[in-house]
Amino acid sequence: MSHIDDPDCEQETKKVQDIIENWDGEKNLIAILLAVQDELGYLPRHGMIEVSRHLNASEASVYGVATFYNQFRFIPPGKNHIEVCMGTACHVKRGSIVLESWERRLGIGEGEVSEDREFSIERVNCVGCCVMAPVVLINKEVHGRMDPTRVDGFLLRYNLAREAQMKEEETSNTGSKEEKKEMKHGEDDQG
Ligand code: FES
Repeated sequence: MSHIDDPDCEQETKKVQDIIENWDGEKNLIAILLAVQDELGYLPRHGMIEVSRHLNASEASVYGVATFYNQFRFIPPGKNHIEVCMGTACHVKRGSIVLESWERRLGIGEGEVSEDREFSIERVNCVGCCVMAPVVLINKEVHGRMDPTRVDGFLLRYNLAREAQMKEEETSNTGSKEEKKEMKHGEDDQG
């Protein structure tokens, strides 16, 4: 769990403070919570505490409003956040098969985050691109006419990119270890 001396938590609290200074009045609570979620990707407890302080409202009432609406998330999304549209047009075009494909391939359900925090899945309402149904947003980027094959294609590209990145990191780690060894030899020779 995050604490106030956690650098991430401090940074997030600062961002929340920057957002809420432009708002007042409990009537704006939902708009404030949405703005905080837009910025952080979720609503952390310390963020809701900041909001309640700013509005002079109880923590319980802020939390109560946030949990009442299902568009609010309380855990940070994965690095790759998959939003599967389940609005009417996408539902008719078999959006549920697309959702199931993501869930099966990633081994997590909607509203969950993978253990390595690389992926999270969320079911959302119409995102305004019905003509491209069924629609998925991957890290806010719109992907239309989704089907299980395209899900596989995305994951294949993701895995290849990840493997390449890991190899690159391995090479640069080996390189810096070698450099250190050489420097050490140099110092020993001088000594
Ligand atoms: S219903 Fe999915 S984009 Fe409108």
